[in-house]
Amino acid sequence: MTYPKINYIGNKEKIADWISGLIPDDAHSLLDAFSGGCSIAYKAKQMGMQVFANDIMKINYHIGKALIENQSETLTADDVDIIFEGISCDDTPSHGFMTDNFSNQFYFENECHELDIIRRNIDRLPSDYKRSLALILMRRAMIRKMPYSRFSIKWDKIKQLRDEGFSYLHYGRRRAYHNQPFRTHFEENLAQYNNAVFDNGKENKAFNTDVFEVIKSVKADVIYMDPPYAGTMNDYFAFYGLLDSYVSGIPATPFENNFTDKKTIASLFDHLFSNLGNFKYWMLSYNSRSKPSKDEILEIIGRYADEIIVHEMPYAYRLTGKEKKQKDIEYVFVATKKP
Ligand SMILES: C[S@@+](CC[C@H](N)C(=O)[O-])C[C@H]1O[C@@H](n2cnc3c(N)ncnc32)[C@H](O)[C@@H]1O
Repeated sequence: MTYPKINYIGNKEKIADWISGLIPDDAHSLLDAFSGGCSIAYKAKQMGMQVFANDIMKINYHIGKALIENQSETLTADDVDIIFEGISCDDTPSHGFMTDNFSNQFYFENECHELDIIRRNIDRLPSDYKRSLALILMRRAMIRKMPYSRFSIKWDKIKQLRDEGFSYLHYGRRRAYHNQPFRTHFEENLAQYNNAVFDNGKENKAFNTDVFEVIKSVKADVIYMDPPYAGTMNDYFAFYGLLDSYVSGIPATPFENNFTDKKTIASLFDHLFSNLGNFKYWMLSYNSRSKPSKDEILEIIGRYADEIIVHEMPYAYRLTGKEKKQKDIEYVFVATKKP
């Protein structure tokens, strides 16, 4: 089993081996409290740990449900036929949540119409796990069709970049994949996602709640925290809020405690670390550009932890759609709670 192509902004996929190697040897269960694309939760599942994956966004909950909690259910050819039933023969304009709210905002009207049909069809699948798997394959398809792979781009720019002639002239590539049907992308990724489903013999669970809630209800040996890095490109609601709207059929609203406001971030961290009594080890991913500074955050953790070990690794990453490479240091703080 291999972690599939999720393409989550700020994911830890490339350094997942390094991070998972820092999990203390005597730990057997882990809460990934800001699980996003689940790269670390998936790694911990592969290591045979009992894994709890939590994220405040609905679409990320479905990633956890389909790939972490789900041990065996995959999508068959018959399921795929159900999901896309009524697409090719139905050209008539009609109403639906996406058509009514998002036509010519993120996708063309006929595409929104397809999205509405597909969403209704997904609810006809026979189990929650299959529905989650279908939703995250649709996520992948929707993201492949979006320039820069995020939903914070204005419609004029989207149209421009989806114009293959324009894209070729200005960027030297046609980006034809933006104009391929949802079904093409879905089917291209299907085997990979199906193959990523596996049973590690543990009862794993996905949650969809605020971090301050999940730390009260889950107990585990380790809590791994990878919050949005304040001071960097971190507005997850702007990036992926549309996917939450698609999942629920109501316009998503921004969430609180989003770890992005530089003014409140220090008190949010204090509040977080003062409430981690359910976990023996605390692991926090951090970055040299994040706010507050590394020293400030160490001081905050030190109020509640016995021992803190700082691990670091140089990490160059590219912001989606920009050529600039940033050279940062990525940190993992491993702390042991005070008795
Ligand atoms: C840096 S990303 C996590 C990336 C993940 N480790 C991966 O490898 O894909 C941070 C995540 O925190 C989530 N988040 C932000 N505020 C939250 C909160 N208050 N409670 C739970 N999750 C939150 C965001 O939705 C986002 O998915």
